[in-house]
Amino acid sequence: MNSDCTQEHTVHVDEFLYDNATVDALCDEGKLARNYCLQCGSFSTRPLTFISHSLSREKLLLIFKSVLPPLDNKIVLDIGSRLGAALFGAYVYSKAAKIVGIEINSDFCNIQNKVIKKYNFQDRIEIIEGNIAHRPDVILSADVIIMNNVFEFFMEPEQQTSMWRFLRQTIKSGTLLVTIPSLEETFSSLQTGIILSEWVQELPSYNPDAAGITLSADEMLEVKQYQIM
Ligand SMILES: C[S@@+](CC[C@H](N)C(=O)[O-])C[C@H]1O[C@@H](n2cnc3c(N)ncnc32)[C@H](O)[C@@H]1O
Repeated sequence: MNSDCTQEHTVHVDEFLYDNATVDALCDEGKLARNYCLQCGSFSTRPLTFISHSLSREKLLLIFKSVLPPLDNKIVLDIGSRLGAALFGAYVYSKAAKIVGIEINSDFCNIQNKVIKKYNFQDRIEIIEGNIAHRPDVILSADVIIMNNVFEFFMEPEQQTSMWRFLRQTIKSGTLLVTIPSLEETFSSLQTGIILSEWVQELPSYNPDAAGITLSADEMLEVKQYQIM
């Protein structure tokens, strides 16, 4: 009993005075520590931030079942396809005729190709290894483009700006663009000079209840659908 209560690493907090909610609040305020450093013993630690560079299964359901209209006979392009999550989501949750992923990193292309081969997805999914900036032809062939925070963690703001200017020039009118996060949020920290109201029109979800999943309100708000004007 209480064998894990070593002298140096045990904090005595009387529940009569401090209930769980109060302890949580004190930890959030930094007045009480919940962790200690295994190397130096310091109580001065902070939680790490976790970030996903792939779409979750719930978000894929939301995008392909609720947000987008039926994709029969359509070509879907995922810019920066990484592990292939959006491609596999499009394959399973939509009837898109062709699903294209372009990815700059060759290791990720190899992983995606292995999965595609393993599960026989070749009939509808194709991976292109390369930089989207050099493939306007791929952009022009797409009816639907998915962009899950493609550039923010992978290039400097100046490069991000020129990528967005290139996309502004290249994506054809009528294309559906699904972005995570919103274009408004992405552009708020970049000087693109692009006037969103002249480029895109935000569209509501095609069938809001169809996915039948529970995502937090914040997560739902991150997924936006636009049509290029
Ligand atoms: C945040 S991940 C998105 C992953 C995937 N679309 C998903 O939603 O699961 C962004 C990916 O874009 C790739 N990428 C960044 N810049 C690119 C570019 N210019 N052309 C092609 N891929 C790029 C990165 O290597 C990274 O794998």
